[in-house]
Amino acid sequence: MLHYLKGKFTTMFPDLDGKVAVVTGASRGIGFCIANQLLAHGARVVICARNEADLLRSENMLNQEFPSKVKAVAADVSKYPQVENLMAKAEELFGGIDILINNAGYAVFRPVADLTQQQWDDIIATNLSGAFYCLHAAIPRLRRRGGGYVINISSLAGKNAFAGGAAYNASKFGLNGMSEAAMLDLRYENIRISYVMPGSVNTQFGGGPSGTTSSSADWKIDSVDVAQVVLDLLAMPPRSLVSRVEIRPSKPPRK
Ligand SMILES: NC(=O)c1ccc[n+]([C@@H]2O[C@H](COP(=O)([O-])OP(=O)(O)OC[C@H]3O[C@@H](n4cnc5c(N)ncnc54)[C@H](OP(=O)(O)O)[C@@H]3O)[C@@H](O)[C@H]2O)c1
Repeated sequence: MLHYLKGKFTTMFPDLDGKVAVVTGASRGIGFCIANQLLAHGARVVICARNEADLLRSENMLNQEFPSKVKAVAADVSKYPQVENLMAKAEELFGGIDILINNAGYAVFRPVADLTQQQWDDIIATNLSGAFYCLHAAIPRLRRRGGGYVINISSLAGKNAFAGGAAYNASKFGLNGMSEAAMLDLRYENIRISYVMPGSVNTQFGGGPSGTTSSSADWKIDSVDVAQVVLDLLAMPPRSLVSRVEIRPSKPPRK
């Protein structure tokens, strides 16, 4: 028991040298910030999004600080063949996959009666099926590396339903369930799965300017805070699995 008493804990940072990460939805917002932090801690990173011009701009920005450590592969996570191509390219470019960050997602907030079938299908296809497709295509590649880590960016909307959130709530409730079941399936293969549930984050998604903090949204979480949670999870010793994390603004406007 003595080793528990010796010294104090120091802040943990993951050592990601030699690790390869795929981050979906990384052309801006939370995904871009996570990619930046993974690079800063030594990983090589494949970033993905649908809009190729935006994605290449982001790759260029990251490449200036981390030359030849980041590659862009355009993909729509709601299309399985594109996801398979994304994972195959990542493996081809960097030799394998160790970390998958399922971050791509979006929302339409409308009363359920006004929600179109297409909007429902698209949100479920991106936020829920997309995360499953990426996980599914990554599993054989994670196995080839002897294990790895999958972190799904969910939302507090995955446990708190609200008016106008039918499709988004359903997608994130579903993502949480899928994450937990998959975690139980894969834990003995050294593949850890966690999901992170942020409250309002100051990104374009949240109605704010990407990567900046406007005075009107000062109360929101910043993308770097979500990236910090991802780093903390990756820094946990392999014997421990923090399966879910909630992070919320400390002082949201009073209702
Ligand atoms: N911001 C918040 O308040 C908040 C709170 C809780 C959870 N979240 C979750 O955090 C994640 C990231 O949100 P964010 O705020 O960073 O959003 P964002 O700023 O709108 O960025 C979303 C990113 O995902 C990409 N994307 C969207 N659909 C995609 C698809 N089908 N395939 C591949 N890439 C796709 C976008 O690029 P393209 O459009 O070019 O594809 C973009 O790079 C989402 O899962 C969201 O649900 C956000």
